[in-house]
Amino acid sequence: MKNPFVFGKVVSGEKFINREAEQKRLMNNISSQINTIIISPRRWGKSSLVMKVAQRLQKNDSKIKFCFIDLFNIRTEEEFYNQFAKELLRISFSKLEERLESAKRFFKQLTPKFQIGIDSSTDFSISFLWDEVKKTPDEILNLPELICNEKQINIMVCLDEFQNIEFFNNPSAFQKKMRAHWQYHKNAVYCLYGSKRHLMTQLFENKSMPFYKFGDVMFLKKIEEEYWVKFITSNFKKTKKLINESIALQIAKDMENHPYFVQQLSYNVWANTEQSCTAKEYRESLDTLLAQQTILFQREVEALTNPQINFLKALCENVAQLSAAETLRKYGLGTSANVNRIKQSLVNKEIIDISSDGIEFLDPLFKLWFSSIYMS
Ligand SMILES: Nc1ncnc2c1ncn2[C@@H]1O[C@H](COP(=O)(O)OP(=O)(O)O)[C@@H](O)[C@H]1O
Ligand SMILES: [Mg+2]
Repeated sequence: MKNPFVFGKVVSGEKFINREAEQKRLMNNISSQINTIIISPRRWGKSSLVMKVAQRLQKNDSKIKFCFIDLFNIRTEEEFYNQFAKELLRISFSKLEERLESAKRFFKQLTPKFQIGIDSSTDFSISFLWDEVKKTPDEILNLPELICNEKQINIMVCLDEFQNIEFFNNPSAFQKKMRAHWQYHKNAVYCLYGSKRHLMTQLFENKSMPFYKFGDVMFLKKIEEEYWVKFITSNFKKTKKLINESIALQIAKDMENHPYFVQQLSYNVWANTEQSCTAKEYRESLDTLLAQQTILFQREVEALTNPQINFLKALCENVAQLSAAETLRKYGLGTSANVNRIKQSLVNKEIIDISSDGIEFLDPLFKLWFSSIYMS
């Protein structure tokens, strides 16, 4: 039987669950020409959400096009412009000749250079003279709106892993350029999303930053356990296996409703189940998963200081007042200023996440492993 669980890839179609309110919000923003910023830690479902909405809208409306650019592999401003222009031309014009001709129309100050591979429909790229673009990036940054106007369409430009612009030489000058052009666009709309909550929040919620008030900022949450229980039990059923609701609920609870990890553990349990999942199969699957990660987790802990480890212990014990004198003493955390430094470095190491809901481990498996080592 085919594995019904997906992790580590964007989920779409019927594999995508819940997020009705978020889908609606994003769709409303798009139809009202409001830009959207989506923020959550890695693997909570940002890319999947945007893709799902794109699929839904494109099905009913041929006048809207989506341009996806993942900044994960883009390390310089120059690469960004090349990729941006290429993707926009690619999604807007299907034939190679059209792309070349339109480039001539749109780029008058800049000199685009094309590289065309064997399969010209996919294997095509464009580059510019960096000295030219550095002076006037206007024609590239305005390209979405120019294409929209010419073709009487709307384009949603989706920039994934947006926080990666931090790697560029001068991120703040680059942000200013983007903002200065995009704020005048009427038919192109932007969706910028990324992980590293702290950085993303800085970019969009800090008054002194160029992207302040650029659009609707959406903090994506995890998916609630009731949806996971339905999802897990029905996926087992579809593939002629059985799991009861209480074990399904246990999976969601142990993985703290984290979309990626719920799916990963569900897969392990599913693969380890012959016909009907019992508590024994569940325990084995979880233990196997933890064992697979042990070396990684050990390495992670080796890179921590004692106060950092102590802070995580306090977190495991759900201590509410982490900076209270009593806590500082009991866990050997030093001063409360010290606690702030500990938090910051654990955030930078992507071990914890601080949100309005409180502080939590980013990786629920690491939390389980850490508790089993340090708390027993
Ligand atoms: N709506 C959803 N329904 C089911 N699984 C999901 C959903 N959103 C995310 N996931 C799970 O989380 C994983 C990571 O999702 P992804 O969209 O890549 O997150 P992000 O872009 O935030 O890093 C997916 O591979 C899938 O296992
Ligand atoms: Mg993503």
